[in-house]
Amino acid sequence: MIILGIETSCDETGVCIIEAEKSEKEASLTVLGNQLYSQVKLHEQYGGVFPMMAKREHAKNLVPLFQKCLEEVEHNRPLAPSLTNEGGKTLRILPSLDKEGLRAVENILIREPELFVELEELIKTIEKPDIDAIAVTSGPGLEPALWVGVTFAKALSEAWNIPLIPTNHMEGHIVASSLSPFLDKKGLGAVDKKEYKIKETKYPALALLISGGHTQLVLIKDNLQYEIIGNTCDDAVGEAFDKVARMLGLPYPGGKIISELAKKEREENPNKKAPYPLPRPMIHSKDLNFSFSGLKTAVLYTLKKIPEITDEVKQEIALEFESAVLDVLESKTSQAIEEYNPQTLIIGGGVSANPSIRELLEKVCQKYGLEFLVPEVSTSTDNALMIALAGYMNILAGKKSDTTFRANGNLSL
Ligand code: KG4
Ligand code: ZN
Repeated sequence: MIILGIETSCDETGVCIIEAEKSEKEASLTVLGNQLYSQVKLHEQYGGVFPMMAKREHAKNLVPLFQKCLEEVEHNRPLAPSLTNEGGKTLRILPSLDKEGLRAVENILIREPELFVELEELIKTIEKPDIDAIAVTSGPGLEPALWVGVTFAKALSEAWNIPLIPTNHMEGHIVASSLSPFLDKKGLGAVDKKEYKIKETKYPALALLISGGHTQLVLIKDNLQYEIIGNTCDDAVGEAFDKVARMLGLPYPGGKIISELAKKEREENPNKKAPYPLPRPMIHSKDLNFSFSGLKTAVLYTLKKIPEITDEVKQEIALEFESAVLDVLESKTSQAIEEYNPQTLIIGGGVSANPSIRELLEKVCQKYGLEFLVPEVSTSTDNALMIALAGYMNILAGKKSDTTFRANGNLSL
């Protein structure tokens, strides 16, 4: 089955085409084309993502990225006999897209006139690719940004009569952890980074989702069955990383830079006591909820008292901040494991790219004898491969095409 995944929930525009199959023995997938455009350079100057700006960028980039993705696919496994016409000159309107069909597509993209012009051009020049389903992020995320992807996906679905599967972004982060690259015979390296085995998850599983917008503990009782058992009361952990980075004068998004500074400090001064101790918010609360806004404010007050924020101070603060986050994540995850007794621990979301967090939670899994599922670093942050995969898993579970859904910024699992 061939699936097109589309992701526009925040500041990454992602388009990915996968071929996935499942036999009695195992499920696997091949990435036929995968394009990701990060708007980070644009948002960096403002220190955060502006939804309307993100929306405009998605609208500008979706068709070119989709086109690039199709070209990549053409190279790997042609999906249609004449994807590019001779010399790129012959324009051919598809029979399914008579005037009426085109008007229906235009109607769907009524708020995105530029996107319609580009899409019209594209669908006039290529034959319908052999895609079985389109999976698109319907939420959660920035609503204006989500709508661009959703209307683009609806337009393609209408133009080519392809089933459409609305997909939850957080479910995408969860399923990304089940991808494991096929290894060569010696088990030393991936045969081809485009081919993955889809690992079977042992249930019940516990997922720790840590991203720029979310900090959640999710109990997965069975395939695609979720219960949120812990949540942040205020800031998400990635948001706290980014805000602390900003206070230290570091570029947006600062999560990765904070973790690099923390690593440097840990290596250079392994036995140094933290000169500016920070709190571990809610670590002793009996529930599984989190709070990171107080930690961020504590950093702010600490910095106000320091006359000069030198590189040394930045490293010290970065390490103590990361240590506070690690302590809280370890404590809450362990508490959830003891309460719910899962067989698997999954981590997902952009912050799960953090090497100290990965290492720490691997140790937690060893302690409790759990299987540990963690996405590759490249699929930890937002991407369309995870959306295509989540779409595939939902189709396997019987989910049917839906062309009437709305983008929902607050969509829950
Ligand atoms: O999942 P994601 O790509 O987007 C959302 O859905 O929010 O997560 C982005 C977040 C940002 O806050 C970024 O700073 C954080 O992930 N992040 C990290 C690291 N890499 C990305 N945080 C800590 N350490 C990292 N290495
Ligand atoms: Zn995300």
